[in-house]
Amino acid sequence: MENKIAIIGLGYVGLPLAIAFSRVYQTFGFDVNQKRINDLKNGIDSNGQFKDINTHKNLNFSYEESSIKDCNIYIITVPTPVDIYKKPDISYLLKASEMVGKMLKKDDIVIYESTTYPTCTNKECAPILQQASQLQLNKDFFIGYSPERINPGDPIYKLENITKITSGSTKEAAVKIDKLYKSIINNTYLAPSIEIAEAAKAIENAQRDLNIAFVNELCIIFDHLGINTHEVLKAAETKWNFLPFNPGLVGGHCISVDPYYLVHIANVYDYHPRVISSGRFINDLMPSFIAQKFIKLLAKHKINPLGARIGLFGASFKENCKDIRNAKVFEVESELKDFGCQVEMYDSLICKQEVEKEYKIVVKRLDEIDGIFDAFLLAIPHNEFLNFNYLKYLKNNGFIFDIKGVLDTNHFNKKILYRL
Ligand SMILES: NC(=O)c1ccc[n+]([C@@H]2O[C@H](COP(=O)([O-])OP(=O)(O)OC[C@H]3O[C@@H](n4cnc5c(N)ncnc54)[C@H](O)[C@@H]3O)[C@@H](O)[C@H]2O)c1
Repeated sequence: MENKIAIIGLGYVGLPLAIAFSRVYQTFGFDVNQKRINDLKNGIDSNGQFKDINTHKNLNFSYEESSIKDCNIYIITVPTPVDIYKKPDISYLLKASEMVGKMLKKDDIVIYESTTYPTCTNKECAPILQQASQLQLNKDFFIGYSPERINPGDPIYKLENITKITSGSTKEAAVKIDKLYKSIINNTYLAPSIEIAEAAKAIENAQRDLNIAFVNELCIIFDHLGINTHEVLKAAETKWNFLPFNPGLVGGHCISVDPYYLVHIANVYDYHPRVISSGRFINDLMPSFIAQKFIKLLAKHKINPLGARIGLFGASFKENCKDIRNAKVFEVESELKDFGCQVEMYDSLICKQEVEKEYKIVVKRLDEIDGIFDAFLLAIPHNEFLNFNYLKYLKNNGFIFDIKGVLDTNHFNKKILYRL
């Protein structure tokens, strides 16, 4: 039988996947967000990942559940955030499973791509599929887990050229799922079990979180000593096996969220991870550390924080990406405002309305910038900020705090350019 693919959840992960599958199979993109579907039907991807959606002939978009009932492969790419207590919120996964369960037919395959903790797919999702379908797993239908590694805004690593982990509930299903992905991407890695695939995804981001937490902690130590961390790292990186990581804000919905999924499942087994939790603690401390360091720099430059006009650059969670979810720069903004600064945020990439709705903050485009500033805080270094004429807009005693150390030091006097 020719595959008919349903992608459930058309966000940063689901849309690229739907487009890739539609090059080979009839593909049906389903999302509960009607505006997202209407936009996509009009060729608009508000996430800014694609400009040519209308050119994909085998791709249909709908918010009607009936549109996907005849598919035989269901791929679930819905959000897996944490709640306010940092506990995994798998409600989207469970809801999507229930919907898919109701339309399951004999020999259908359900593949989960959403990031989750090991055991979630088999212990939480599969029973819902069975109950809703009244079919039996591994006899009537099959499941798999294939975590996503997509990195929005990354010009090098794209869905098609990364290695994708695959897995399945039986050996045959796993091979079938692996073959399915091989038809759209260059490399796959068939993991021995669904739990191994789930765990591999969770630790990839937890490892990154910890590595960044280490350099962030170094920043705090070296700040006490009056040593520049970037200079220390530059020197240390001359050793062949020193791992290069940069200090900075760790936000978004992956690196700053996935470690909590691991912590959760460890807690269920009565083990309380120290290392993973410490990394989270340090990284969550950074907005406050950066804001306080900035205030000290204002004092050093004899600028009164009360009413100081600050240009805060970048409003997404990482550079050259529009995604504002869990962007830590808003915590920096809030703390600077608490100190009495007059903070103006600039970012031409993000959706202004989305930020206003989510954070009640007006963000301007960089070409709207006007007048003279006491200081600039380059928090999220989108390309548009790299060649900006900072000196034109800076007071004589002003300065630039370049968190990630991306500006060319040769262009600035040492007394006005600071790094973490
Ligand atoms: N964005 C990334 O860089 C990235 C990378 C790797 C893994 N992931 C993981 O992939 C998953 C999806 O992330 P994302 O960034 O694409 O999220 P997203 O918020 O951009 O998209 C998710 C979409 O799912 C839709 N949705 C929610 N419930 C639904 C339902 N029941 N049925 C149909 N649609 C539904 C939402 O309306 C939304 O459009 C998460 O688990 C995330 O952790 C994301």
